[in-house]
Amino acid sequence: MNKPDDHMFVIFGASGDLTKRKLVPSIYSLFVLDLLPKKFALLGAARSEYSDDEFRSNMKDAINEFGEHEDKSRIDDFLNLLYYQPYDSSEDSINKLKKKLDDLRKGNSISGNTVYYLSTPPSLYSTIPQSLASVDLNKEEDGWKKVVIEKPFGYDLESAQELNSKLMKDWHEDQIYRIDHYLGKETVQNLLVTRFSNGIFEPLWNRNFIHHVEVTSAESIGVEERGGYYESSGALRDMVQNHLLQVIGLTAMEPPSSVEPAAIRNEILKVFQSLRPIKEEDVKNCVIRGQYLSSTIKGEKVKGYREEKGVDPDSSTETYAAIKFYIDNWRWGGVPFYIRTGKRLPTRVTEVVIHFRPTPHFLFQQEDFCNTCNQLVIRIQPDEGVLLKIGMKTPGAGFDVQNVNMDFHYSDLSEQRIPSAYERLIYDAMNGDTTLYARSEEVMEAWKFLMPILNAWKNDSSIPLYGFPAGTWGPEKADSLIEEPEMTWRYPCKNLSDDGIYCEL
Ligand code: NDP
Ligand code: BG6
Repeated sequence: MNKPDDHMFVIFGASGDLTKRKLVPSIYSLFVLDLLPKKFALLGAARSEYSDDEFRSNMKDAINEFGEHEDKSRIDDFLNLLYYQPYDSSEDSINKLKKKLDDLRKGNSISGNTVYYLSTPPSLYSTIPQSLASVDLNKEEDGWKKVVIEKPFGYDLESAQELNSKLMKDWHEDQIYRIDHYLGKETVQNLLVTRFSNGIFEPLWNRNFIHHVEVTSAESIGVEERGGYYESSGALRDMVQNHLLQVIGLTAMEPPSSVEPAAIRNEILKVFQSLRPIKEEDVKNCVIRGQYLSSTIKGEKVKGYREEKGVDPDSSTETYAAIKFYIDNWRWGGVPFYIRTGKRLPTRVTEVVIHFRPTPHFLFQQEDFCNTCNQLVIRIQPDEGVLLKIGMKTPGAGFDVQNVNMDFHYSDLSEQRIPSAYERLIYDAMNGDTTLYARSEEVMEAWKFLMPILNAWKNDSSIPLYGFPAGTWGPEKADSLIEEPEMTWRYPCKNLSDDGIYCEL
């Protein structure tokens, strides 16, 4: 693999949770894998007053606790590359940061190439790039400059457009990397490979053979310490606007002309542009929202959402959302897409399920409409893999048919290490590869699609927010989104090959 050019990596928000849990541990993995350039330094910045050594000591603990690379023997060598500069977004502090950067560059003979990673509260996503530009730290005469922006990119369409236009005053699109960590997941990228490297799937991948598509992204945890953030977000903004729609983009896109970033991103954008707008008055029929209630899971009492830290006791924030929608283009005309996501569901699972049409004529005895319909399950996490369900003869007299599994598990390739999503995305940003980052048009189209839902929920108090016991599959009402009477959502289990309400979670 290519080594990136020599550069400085600056993390704003370096005293925060994401830095300690994901960013620095991922950069350590790149270091151990010898994927960092020879000349490299990482500068952390936040309001907290740390010295270089205090920051190094915090990051040592972070790598030991959260590092995904099993080799921890090189932490001390890595820590020598780390520095810290207090920064509070004032004019004085950006000047001090600039001076520290200059000194580090000179001291370590590093060129002007720089990645600025914004892992701060979203309110600073325009302030910090503006501040960098005010002291020319965006200028590329002495080397490339990139700014990586964490999610959420805006709160709605208007704020996303506003943020974008503020950024565009001082930076150009090629310098802006909008992160969506789902795109960094190996198994999300495998969607492309499964579709476009197998001659058997692509001919069937359309309205003629596919009955409907289902995407689930469930989490068993609640909002944990992030109640304050989640209150201003909810499931739709937190998961659907970005992660789930990106998964839909990869599932539904046309074959790109190459694997160049622009070719892939153009096709994803076309999918987003083809999403049939949901009218505000239809929201109550096509979208179900829910909120988890207190419950007992495996003998343990768990809090309801409204009892979580940082959450309003009367909160109407949705922790669950399910949507039925259509993609109006030649490939997908008339095929319903169902997506659902939620916290405090029975298990952590993300998967895409392609439900194929039934056979045109039922030759064998079948109990119901789609007892033996073929399904292709692409499991993004956990027990990553691909499962095909096919009808087979039940042994014995007659021609009874049962659904059986053909499955591939990524763990069968166990000799190959799967990089974490952040490791992959950070490495790509260092190398200037934007394939797995969201372009501004994609982000805006995603917001455009969600705005009628957000507006309807805000304006029409008669749209129910269904309570459901934590640890269950969300509001029962969500079942009625799937119109065929014999069909329901798949009930995925921890293991890819199992499903059903009673399997191991
Ligand atoms: P934290 O609240 O833990 O960290 C925020 C960081 O920003 C801290 O280092 C804080 O440090 C710094 N900060 C806050 N205000 C200022 C300021 N005025 N000037 C300079 N620095 C400031 O948040 P997270 O680390 O959890 O999240 C960071 C971003 O990443 C958020 O936008 C979040 O939405 C996003 N994200 C987080 C995920 C996660 O799992 N944590 C997952 C996906 C996205 P100090 O107080 O020292 O200034
Ligand atoms: C983040 C959301 O973007 O994704 C979190 O803000 C969510 O609320 C997380 O828990 C899920 O990511 P993953 O990789 O655990 O599926």
